[in-house]
Amino acid sequence: MKIVDKIKDLKAYLAKEKQDNKRIGLVPTMGALHAGHLSLVKRCVKENDICVVSVFVNPTQFNDKHDLETYPRTLDKDCALLQAANCDYVFVPSVEEMYPEPDTRTFDFGPVMQVMEGARRPGHFNGVAQVVSKLFYIVEPDKAYFGEKDFQQIAVIRAMVNQLHIPVEIIDCPIMREADGLAMSSRNTRLTPEQRQKAPLIAHTLKESVNFAAGKSVQDVINFVVKTVEKEPVMKVEYYEIVDGHTMQPIQNWSDTDYPVGCITVYCGDVRLIDNIKYALNHKA
Ligand code: PAF
Repeated sequence: MKIVDKIKDLKAYLAKEKQDNKRIGLVPTMGALHAGHLSLVKRCVKENDICVVSVFVNPTQFNDKHDLETYPRTLDKDCALLQAANCDYVFVPSVEEMYPEPDTRTFDFGPVMQVMEGARRPGHFNGVAQVVSKLFYIVEPDKAYFGEKDFQQIAVIRAMVNQLHIPVEIIDCPIMREADGLAMSSRNTRLTPEQRQKAPLIAHTLKESVNFAAGKSVQDVINFVVKTVEKEPVMKVEYYEIVDGHTMQPIQNWSDTDYPVGCITVYCGDVRLIDNIKYALNHKA
């Protein structure tokens, strides 16, 4: 496994691999790797000849300075995990390498980026599009792998590759969960032991809401989820929306979509956690 920090070096290595007709897979990450990331790496290794993992805490997607400063950074451990997972190249650029000058590009992918995270974290998806488009131009992967925990992010990235005609196949991979149901996230390490113990309530409630949904309206289900999670005083729901999983637009009635997905953001203390759940068709009112 090669650890590369310069764009020109990575491009040179990959040009050689492409000359040899190797298929390239990319897993973009911000490091602090956990089993969720490793499931993407495993799939990337399986489906491609060469697996590239980027580890870069992208400053342009953080709308909260404190979040950027406290984002966990564990590069040595990440590299050991990637080596064990048979990754071929780890790309670890500095901020100066990725942004030699400020990235002034502004993207508009339409309604898909205006709701939920887009509405609450101004500039977040623009920053994601800036860095992911740069990574796609640098690596020119055949396939790129993203976790469904960031459900809306995948929709934004799909819109980006369509709008910019970037020839890459976007592969979405299921959420990985801890044994107690909590969706794996690098931010989980910031929870206090007490918060960590309470946090699985989010996933439990979402799961319970699938059964609760039988015969209920969309609004009933939203009320149920918010009320149940907030019974725990340490939890504050920022939003729970049930959206059309294709367009990310909130639905009012189950018949508005063939793909209803519930997306939640909860503050557990001051740690912002997200999760989501798909509602099966037979649970609709
Ligand atoms: O999902 C993430 O970790 C980040 O948003 C990504 C896609 C690596 C871009 O920085």
